[in-house]
Formats: sequence, C-alpha cells, structure tokens
Amino acid sequence: FSRGFSSSAIRQTTIKHLTVIGGGLMGSGIAQVAASTGHQVSMVDQSDDILNKSKANIGKSLQRVVKKKFADDPKGGEQFLSETMGRIETSTSAVACMEKTDLVIEAIVENLEIKQKLFSELDAAAPKHTIFTSNTSSIPIGDIASSTKRLDRFGGLHFFNPVPVMKLLEVIRIPATSDETFNKLLAFGKDMQKATVNCKDTPGFIVNRLLVPYMIEAVRMLERGDASPRDIDTAMKLGAGYPMGPFELSDYVGLDTMKFILDGWSKNYPENPLFRPSPMLDKLVGEGKLGAKSGEGFYSYKK
Ligand code: NAI
Repeated sequence: FSRGFSSSAIRQTTIKHLTVIGGGLMGSGIAQVAASTGHQVSMVDQSDDILNKSKANIGKSLQRVVKKKFADDPKGGEQFLSETMGRIETSTSAVACMEKTDLVIEAIVENLEIKQKLFSELDAAAPKHTIFTSNTSSIPIGDIASSTKRLDRFGGLHFFNPVPVMKLLEVIRIPATSDETFNKLLAFGKDMQKATVNCKDTPGFIVNRLLVPYMIEAVRMLERGDASPRDIDTAMKLGAGYPMGPFELSDYVGLDTMKFILDGWSKNYPENPLFRPSPMLDKLVGEGKLGAKSGEGFYSYKK
C-alpha cells in the first residue's frame, strides 16, 4: 500500500468515489458522512421515492451538524451544506454506478440470498480495482463474498447507528482479503474520521459479539425474577458507568433486531449457551412489542 508503487490490479491508492447501496437508516448515514468528508457518493435504492426521502433526511441531519459546527460562521455552514449535498447523487441501478466507483458499501436488507444476488451482478460489472464491502451485522462476510470472484478485494465495513454520531468503524477481513485491500479500508475509515478497529469474520465481530450476549443475559436475569428492568438498568449505569442500561439499549436497538441476530447465531452455533434464544424476548416480539419504535418494549414509550 505505501511502497510507492502499486500492483497492476490497483490503479489508485485512495477511495475517491463510493457507491452506497441501500439508502435506509444506515446507508443514508454512511452516504452523509462520506460526502461530508469529501468523497463523491452514489446512493442506490429501489425507487426514486425512497431516494428522495433519504436525501431529504440527509439534508435535515446535515443542518443539525451545521448548526453546531458552524455556529459562528453561517456562510461557511451554507457552503459546507451545499457542497456536501452536491457530492451525493442517487440512482436506482447499482450496476450503472460501478464503472466509476472505487468502493461499494452494501447496506440493504439483512438477507444472505439477496445480498449474494446483488454482489454477483456487481462483480460482473465493476472494474477490477473496485473493493466490495458489506455493512451486515449478523451474516458472515465470507458467505456474502462467495458470490463473487474478487475475494481478495472483499471485506466488511460495519458502522454503528447513528452513523454521523458514532465514532467507531469495525473493519473486517476474511481470510482471502489482501493486505492491500485491508489497508485501503483502514485508510478510508480514517478519511471518514472514524476510529477503526481490525476484526476477523466472526459472529458479531467485536461490539455485537460482546453486547448482544450481555443484553440477553440481562433478559435472562429478568426471566429468573432476580431483579427488575429499572433496577438492572440503574445498576449498570451507576455501577459500571454505562451510558444506557441493557433494557434501555435493547429497546433502542429494537427487540426484533436482537431476536433476528440471536436466532441466526443460535442456528449456526447451537452449542454456544450464550446464543440460546430467550422465551421472554420471543414473546415480546410476537406481541409486536419491538422497543421504542413500536411504542413499547421492556418500557412503554406511549405519550
Ligand atoms: P433499512 O431497512 O433502514 O434500509 C435498507 C434499505 O435497503 C431500504 O431503503 C431498502 O429499500 C433498500 N434495499 C433493500 N433491498 C435492496 C436492493 N436489492 N437494492 C437496493 N436497495 C435495497 O435497514 P438498515 O437498518 O439501514 O440496515 C441495512 C444493513 O445494515 C443491514 O445489513 C443491517 O444488518 C446493517 N446494520 C444495521 C444497523 C442498525 O442499527 N440498523 C447497524 C449496523 C449494520
């Protein structure tokens, strides 16, 4: 990467243009931060309607950033806003974006077959140097990459919600990821002004591998009747210094998301007791109590 010459397959050392596929919660945040840090971005989703909404949300989010960062310089703020928005173009065809792109970040629905189909189409259309990554939370990167013939140029970039606020980026390599690719992904993370950590392609990478079993262990404590959600949250906030307790965090993340991750892991690793399903979590999700977004989870959010 920094040897002063590049291999024939790679024609540049920096990521100038990226394609973010999926303009939902994560994709729009990734597009926003990438554009804010000077990258050209194509954001792809299934319809112009969705893309227009995503772009409007990015605009609103950027306005909040500008209000804070350019409090004394409204003119500079306006310029930053219009330049950043100007770096984001939208498209309903990922394939059509491939020609000019150095990096793909996929943030579509969490479904292996759909991700594989997308990447196999992109593999045929993208230039040789283009690096492919997924933002998946729970699917092995290697399983997604197997749909392509560019395993050395495949990795994971796992962002955290909300992307503009959370400083961490997990950079994941599969065994076939080349050092050159991995170094480029780390450099890209720094360009995005994120703190990067190196991860292998293991379930949950670093953060979720520790966080999900911890949150589920709190639910098991409640299932046994050992303590109340409020007391467990208070204990972890004041005794362990965590900014949110495990039940507040579960409600924020979404109980359906937690169940989805846990179900996937317990299916793939049935021998691991940390990944066992939780009857209480299953019941709440079955009743449509998904956390803050549905108005009720472990706590009620109804006004
Ligand atoms: P979301 O549901 O908000 O957004 C997904 C978007 O992808 C939707 O706008 C949908 O229209 C679009 N989409 C679906 N299939 C598509 C296709 N074939 N081509 C183009 N666009 C398509 O989902 P969210 O939360 O943004 O998650 C996306 C990915 O990020 C998932 O893999 C998830 O595991 C991962 N992730 C989610 C986090 C979270 O906190 N929500 C955190 C880190 C990763």
